[in-house]
Amino acid sequence: MSEQLTIAMPKGRIFDEAAELLRQAGYRLPDAFDDSRKLIVEAPEANMKFFLAKPTDVPTYVEHGVADIGVAGKDVMLEDERDVYEVLDLNISACYLAVASLPGQTPSTIAPKVASKYPKTAAKYFKEQGEQVEVIKLNGSIELAPLVGLADRIVDIVSTGGTLRENGLVETEEVVHITSRLIVNPVSYRVKDEAIEEMVERLASVVEGDAE
Ligand code: PRP
Repeated sequence: MSEQLTIAMPKGRIFDEAAELLRQAGYRLPDAFDDSRKLIVEAPEANMKFFLAKPTDVPTYVEHGVADIGVAGKDVMLEDERDVYEVLDLNISACYLAVASLPGQTPSTIAPKVASKYPKTAAKYFKEQGEQVEVIKLNGSIELAPLVGLADRIVDIVSTGGTLRENGLVETEEVVHITSRLIVNPVSYRVKDEAIEEMVERLASVVEGDAE
């Protein structure tokens, strides 16, 4: 049997979707993982162990080598440079980063304020547009910022668009399309090359098959 692979990924929907991709790729994972609050989940028949982390922390576990592999959103990968290999677009959890504001909002100040969970990505985007803005970092509920006057605009994830609608905000620009990526620790890639290459190949054929 090949070496055990440790895989960090977010809990919830991304874990379920990634586990389903692994099953389709021929890995023997349980039909359903129990719904407990366990943070380490074993799949002994596939010789895998999953660490369930916050989405933004997944690359940290992989970069430090405690997880060989991770499933991380492109949003997280764009925000911080990481010493990991991004090897495959898993094409799951599709969404996009967008600029949004209250309807008819005309930025009144010289440097309008933009709130985001992704301050570096937001700053880079507006710089590329030739716009000077002040970026305010928030950790969640970004849509609140323009409603209460903390910011003129936001840069945030849009999935169904429901949160924007519910809060009376309108999307003005799409920044970048986002999907989940398979990332690998560079040392693990050398030491466990056989098991990792096999996983990447098997997942790639499932993802390509799905795309057809
Ligand atoms: C994300 C994102 C938006 C919302 C978009 O927030 O930041 O707020 O989901 O989804 P929708 O377009 O389907 O409404 P999340 O639920 O992760 O919580 P957060 O606001 O605490 O970041």
